[in-house]
Amino acid sequence: MSITISRIVQGLEPSATLAMSAKAKELKSQGKTIYDLSVGELDFVTPQHICEAGTAAMKSGYTKYTIVSGIPELKKAIAEKYKIDYGLEYDPSHVVVSNGAKHSLHNVFLTTLNPDDEVIVPAPYWVSYAELIKLSGAVPVIIPTEESQNFKMTAAQFEQAITPKTKMLLLCNPSNPTGTMYNTNELTEIANIVLKNNLFVVSDEIYDKLVYGNNRFVSFPTLNPELPERTIVVNGVSKTYAMTGWRIGWTFSPEHIAKKMGELQSQETSSPSSISQYAALTALTGPQDCVTEMLAAFTKRRNYVAKRIAEIDGLTCSELSGAIYVFFNIKNYLGKILGGVRIDNSEQFCLELLTQKQVATVMGSAFGCEGYVRASFAVELDILKEAFDRIAEFVAEFVNV
Ligand SMILES: Cc1ncc(COP(=O)(O)O)c(C=O)c1O
Repeated sequence: MSITISRIVQGLEPSATLAMSAKAKELKSQGKTIYDLSVGELDFVTPQHICEAGTAAMKSGYTKYTIVSGIPELKKAIAEKYKIDYGLEYDPSHVVVSNGAKHSLHNVFLTTLNPDDEVIVPAPYWVSYAELIKLSGAVPVIIPTEESQNFKMTAAQFEQAITPKTKMLLLCNPSNPTGTMYNTNELTEIANIVLKNNLFVVSDEIYDKLVYGNNRFVSFPTLNPELPERTIVVNGVSKTYAMTGWRIGWTFSPEHIAKKMGELQSQETSSPSSISQYAALTALTGPQDCVTEMLAAFTKRRNYVAKRIAEIDGLTCSELSGAIYVFFNIKNYLGKILGGVRIDNSEQFCLELLTQKQVATVMGSAFGCEGYVRASFAVELDILKEAFDRIAEFVAEFVNV
């Protein structure tokens, strides 16, 4: 008999974004040109001065395990950056550096949740949240939001979802997959409910530097002096500095949580990569022009994508305030016929779009929201142009039943 799989991993859904990009890669290996809008990863290479810091770290012999929760210089730099950028004062002892923000989230849930605890997750949500919460034995409670509300959970929806088992709210601001951002008033209303009900918040702020137009990012615990004790902030270098492969993320949390997450990490991974930590230190403390340049490129792409969606008959999207995605509505095409086949859901839509037009996207169902498709605009403008020309051709081929 072969080795059996644990119940907890049996129940795990594989990452749909990575699955779509694997399908796209398979088609590429068959010689097809693929317009890949499926992955949430900046197309830029890591800026040169950051790469050089990694090389220098290796040459200087920083190739060993580090302090489990991260090198002191990096923890200090992380705390200082949040203080300068958002006015949030944390001692470095509140910082835990991990192998990417995804790992940070996993540590947070394992450290704070007990089986049956409920975590409120507004949908559409980033694919990994529900699965990571379930891995800790807790229960994600999904709150659907509407495109007409710009995919924001209202205070009333939040309050109604609270039960005696609710422990935590998970906020992703700016949002993957919708690009939505909560403003100060909306966050304050949410914060008041959190405080009134003695809840905790995990605030995923990984897209804090990818914010467009007049939108202004507000870090959740800055809204009320009581919030730092009730909030765990998650962030990292992946999106801001195009450093997904370096795997550095971190948390700010109350000190007793930081201590326990460090202990957990000591058993899991010993420490984050020493080389990547030195590179991340340079990213945070070195020149920030690279961030401004990447934001300028993303602003052009975001404007272009919003224009194309508005021009294509039957597609809509909400305001693109931050992050690197458009989450567009395809409901006008569901139930219609394409090449003799009825397309009933976003998964079928995305698979046909990929096989017929070579454009890779991700189905909304993977984000807990059927009837939508997520496209990343982390690709160059000419690729976006070709991809959206193809999407326009694709939807024009649908016929009514
Ligand atoms: C909302 C959100 N949080 C966290 C992460 C994980 O980032 P990292 O690459 O640092 O693990 C991602 C990556 O796509 C993300 O979109």
